[in-house]
Amino acid sequence: MLHRRPARMPATLLALGVALCMASCGDGSDVTPRWLLDPSAPLPQWLSEAGVYADLAALEPAGAWVSYVPPHGLYSNRADKDRLLWLPPETRIATADEAWVFPVGTVLIKTFAYRHVEGRFGDVAVETRVIRRQPDGWQYGVYHWDAAGRQARLADARWPESRFLLEDVNGSDFEYVIPGELDCEACHETHTQAPVIGLGPTNLDPALLERAELFTTPPTTTALPARDAVEEKAMSYIVGNCVHCHHGQRGSDNAAFDLRPEALLTNTVGVPTDSSASGDGIRVVPGDAAASALYEAVVEAWKPDYSGDFKPMPPVGIVTGDHDAAAILSRWIDSLEAP
Ligand code: HEC
Ligand code: HEC
Repeated sequence: MLHRRPARMPATLLALGVALCMASCGDGSDVTPRWLLDPSAPLPQWLSEAGVYADLAALEPAGAWVSYVPPHGLYSNRADKDRLLWLPPETRIATADEAWVFPVGTVLIKTFAYRHVEGRFGDVAVETRVIRRQPDGWQYGVYHWDAAGRQARLADARWPESRFLLEDVNGSDFEYVIPGELDCEACHETHTQAPVIGLGPTNLDPALLERAELFTTPPTTTALPARDAVEEKAMSYIVGNCVHCHHGQRGSDNAAFDLRPEALLTNTVGVPTDSSASGDGIRVVPGDAAASALYEAVVEAWKPDYSGDFKPMPPVGIVTGDHDAAAILSRWIDSLEAP
């Protein structure tokens, strides 16, 4: 895998890389790297040494990794995202209780790429995020890819890093920023199923139901309590993009504003906003998306010429509004009848 490194890397680093690779990843065949067998071992410096991808540039996972797609995904500035799960040999996710327990040594990976974007950034991975369960808690890490998309290096994750400009669908440029560790925690640590968000009882890839060997007890998926397909799309959108903060339980700011599917209608339809930091209004006015505070915060507040009082939602993690949200949320709100 060494030939995938950028040519400009200093010789000393290259030599170090060779030495590390000889110690930990053998000839790239089926030797499991140390960090996957010893949860206390540090994260590898280079993604090519991590044993995650058999073919790094093609993002082809190595054999033991389970790839999955959460049914309720998070919008991330239109990036494509690949997700992978690693469980240590002979372990399973404990699924008997509502709060799932992931074994020590579990690793979850999410790689961001812009496959659908033409030109310079097309087909190039940008960042790879890692969450690992260590004996004394969860660890976050992020690998920054080089511009050619050939190698990725473990970053100092304390600070966010701005990478480059991309063009948004409305023609304006936006800056792609890789979050720092505090940002990871802002979303991952406030959730009731913390920190794993996209693999659990309320957001589970149906394909994983076939993989009994991953779980102590066969999991079930909960259907959204939607009355029709339009409402189902809106609920799915809100589960993917909002409930990791608005979950009605302990922790984060404004968590009390519960947007989980079972509470969504009660807490929005005809209900005034409740935040000193935000605008006044009715969260959802049935039949009138344009008059609804929720719609204003998710759609209007992202527009450059917006002059209202709402903070754009979600407030962390994205720098462009989700252009699909406008259609999903307006169709739903416009379809609601006044009680
Ligand atoms: C804006 C909120 C937000 C921020 C900031 C964020 N994440 Fe996430 N992350 C999510 C959500 C929501 C999911 C699940 C949905 C999905 O994957 O689309 C997720 C999924 C993941 C996954 C797959 C496992 C899982 O929990 O579903 C990993 C790994 C991950 N994030 C790592 C990180 C790391 C590392 C950082 C910081 C560098 C970070 N994330 C920052 C919201 C966030
Ligand atoms: C990272 C955490 C986070 C995420 C994710 C998030 N919010 Fe918020 N939200 C907040 C905080 C904090 C406030 C209060 C601050 C403010 O209103 O400016 C808030 C306020 C609001 C308000 C106005 C206050 C009120 O009482 O009604 C609305 C509406 C809202 N959020 C909707 C959403 C929707 C819809 C989503 C998903 C698209 C979302 N939020 C995602 C943290 C979050």
